[in-house]
Amino acid sequence: MPSLTLADLDQRPELAPAVLALFAAAPPGAHHLVCGLPAAMGQEPTAEILARTSGMLLALSGRQVAGAIGICPYSEDQVTLWGPATAQAAVAEFLFTSTREALHLSRFGSMRALIDTRNREQRAFYRAHGFAAWKDNHLYECVLETRTSTGTVSRGSLAFKVRAATTRDHNAVISILTRAFPDSDHCLPSLAKREADGYRHYVLEEAGTVVAAAAVQDAGRRGWLKLIAVKPELRGRQLSRRLLEGVLASESRRGKRTMALEVLADNAPAIALYEHAGFRRKWTATIMTGPV
Ligand SMILES: CC(C)(COP(=O)(O)OP(=O)(O)OC[C@H]1O[C@@H](n2cnc3c(N)ncnc32)[C@H](O)[C@@H]1OP(=O)(O)O)[C@@H](O)C(=O)NCCC(=O)NCCS
Repeated sequence: MPSLTLADLDQRPELAPAVLALFAAAPPGAHHLVCGLPAAMGQEPTAEILARTSGMLLALSGRQVAGAIGICPYSEDQVTLWGPATAQAAVAEFLFTSTREALHLSRFGSMRALIDTRNREQRAFYRAHGFAAWKDNHLYECVLETRTSTGTVSRGSLAFKVRAATTRDHNAVISILTRAFPDSDHCLPSLAKREADGYRHYVLEEAGTVVAAAAVQDAGRRGWLKLIAVKPELRGRQLSRRLLEGVLASESRRGKRTMALEVLADNAPAIALYEHAGFRRKWTATIMTGPV
C-alpha cells in the first residue's frame, strides 16, 4: 500500500462523494458506524450531514480516499467520533492516531463513540485504544402518518394544552430543561439562538401554567425529539404522554413522516413513554468514552 497522507475535507471538498460512499457502506447492521450527530443517526449520509461535523479527516492513499473519520460536536470538553470508515486496519489506526494528535492541540479532554452493539469489530477497536463502555443508548423511531390529535385535551375542570413555545415561555422552558438535564448545554446560548438553528420548542400547559417542555430538531423528513421533560414535582401523572401526543401531531402536520430519538437504556420512565406513544426500537449502541 502506498504511504498514507492526512487531509481535511474542508480543504478537499471535491472528495465529499468518496467520503459519503465510505459511510454509506456502513449502515445499521453488523458493520454499522453510528453517526456522531444524533439527529442524523441511521440516516443515509449526505453532504449536508458531513458539513455539520466539526471536522472530517481523510486518509489518502495516493489520490484515493482510503478512509475517513468524523469529529462531531458534543459538549464543551468532549467530542463524538464517527468512524473510522475504512476496510483497512492500518488506515483505521492512522486516522485514529491523527485524530488524537489533532485533539491534543484543542480544548477537548475526552472523546466518545457510539458503537452499534452488533459491531463487535468496532467495539474491539475502541477498547484497544483505551475506551471503556459507559451506558447503552437506544435509537427509537415512530411513523407519524396516522396522527390526527389537535393537541388540546380537556379532562374534568382542568384544561391541558400543547402548543409551540413563544419567547414569553422561554424562561419556563429553560427552568424545566435545566432541572431535568443539568449537564446539557441545550439552553445555551439562548433558546432563541437554538430556534434560529432549527430547533422547535413545545410546552404543555395545565390550567395556564407551563408544566412540561420538549425540543424537536429539524432534520429533513425525519424530526428528532431532542428532549422532553416534566417538572420534577409533577412527574408520574402521565403529563409527558399528553405533551408527546401534541408534539407528534404538530410535527405530522408540519409534514414530518417519522420522528426519532435516542434514549439511555436505563431511563425506564422515558422508554415507557416512548413505547406507549408508538415508538419502536431500531437498534442499541454502547456509548464508549476515552481520553484524548
Ligand atoms: C421521562 C419523563 C418525561 C416522563 O414524564 P411523566 O409525565 O412523569 O411520565 P408518566 O407519568 O407518563 O410515566 C411514564 C411511564 O414511566 C413509568 N415509570 C415512572 N417511573 C418509573 C420508574 N422509576 N421505573 C419504571 N417505570 C417508571 C410510568 O409507570 C409510566 O409508564 P406507563 O405509561 O406504562 O404507565 C419524566 O420522568 C422526566 O421529565 N424525566 C427527566 C427528563 C428525561 O429523562 N427525559 C427523557 C429523555 S429526553
